[in-house]
Amino acid sequence: MSKKPPAVTSRIPGFYREHISNRLRVMIETGLLSEESVGHLKEGGQLTLDVADRMSENVIGVHGLPLSIALNFRVNNSDVLVPMAVEEPSVVAAASNAARQVRMTGGFFGEATAPIMTTQVQFDDVPDPGRAKGLVEAERERIFQIADAAIPGMVRRGGGCRDLDVRVLDEDHGVLVVHLYVDVGDAMGANVVDAVAEAVAPHIHALTGGTVGLRILSNLPLRRRVFVRCDVSVDALGGPELADGIVKASRFAELDPFRAVTHNKGVMNGVDAVALAMGQDWRSIEAGAHAFASLSGSYRPLVVWRRTESGVHGELDMPMAVGTVGGSTRVHRGVRAAFELMGVKNAGELAIVMGAAGMASNLAALRALAGEGIQRGHMRLHSRKEEVLENARLHAQKVERGGT
Ligand code: MEV
Repeated sequence: MSKKPPAVTSRIPGFYREHISNRLRVMIETGLLSEESVGHLKEGGQLTLDVADRMSENVIGVHGLPLSIALNFRVNNSDVLVPMAVEEPSVVAAASNAARQVRMTGGFFGEATAPIMTTQVQFDDVPDPGRAKGLVEAERERIFQIADAAIPGMVRRGGGCRDLDVRVLDEDHGVLVVHLYVDVGDAMGANVVDAVAEAVAPHIHALTGGTVGLRILSNLPLRRRVFVRCDVSVDALGGPELADGIVKASRFAELDPFRAVTHNKGVMNGVDAVALAMGQDWRSIEAGAHAFASLSGSYRPLVVWRRTESGVHGELDMPMAVGTVGGSTRVHRGVRAAFELMGVKNAGELAIVMGAAGMASNLAALRALAGEGIQRGHMRLHSRKEEVLENARLHAQKVERGGT
């Protein structure tokens, strides 16, 4: 992770017990938030109607979700505050709890590949697909030039077309698809690669014949991946039975798609909550995650856990098309505040934190399921929350009556 002021720690015991205004004060004290973001959050963090109207069509209001901070995350040796926007109770608490267990053994470690998006150009009725494939491959440098000429800004920032693939999908109907692999820098990159697909299509068409079909990104960006790993000790987990239980739960997901999809839903609880808070295209992330999970022919877990001598070792591998520029990252005030708090400097860092959030959510779910079951934990959390709210209400009454 990027360097942050030394005062920033993601370990803030008792944060959940504080009144919202105190939690916000603690966030302000980190010094990470701009004055504008402080003002925005102090007013409740709502999107204004005119911004909403610019973001979408037929707008009649704004739709709110709680914006929370998942705590205790340590990623690549730095503490990081993890903004989450989610309607499901317990996601934030569960991820924070798991992150606390993971940080006892150093935290999460991850890397992201170069930000290479995939875009597709479809051709139908190609008379000789095998020959066309060879012709397109022989023209790759010229195709890259045309692609790069369509995205000069991205090329100036160091991005551009990097590779090409030709796939014959159906010999009989002459269905051929050309993949272009484009470095999109810190953008999510959908618009960039759509522009590339449209720009190169006529030139490729002149080589293949047939008819031009779709020209659009693939939401399975196999070359834009994030890998995260962590170790958790038996002590942190609460005993060897829980460690064994997590590994058995992982094996269950590896053996059974019915379980794997629920396992992955738990991973996506964390990934999506961060995606939403950070203004990312979570539909694209979701689509890519599940397609990736089923690539081998059977649906597989995105995170697997193995027993080690001292506890468990987890590994996550998934596609992650996210950006720190473009999209709603500029227009949405709350998203800008979330970026300030997280402090990531590029799309790769964001992808790693999101992967860590997914792993933490998965670990928390498996630990609960391997132990007392998910409901007991939910109920405990619910009563803890009720207690906090009741205390806040009593405190407010006291203040109203002139007490302290
Ligand atoms: C609930 O939102 C997520 C879980 O079902 C995930 C899992 O079963 O691993 C608890």
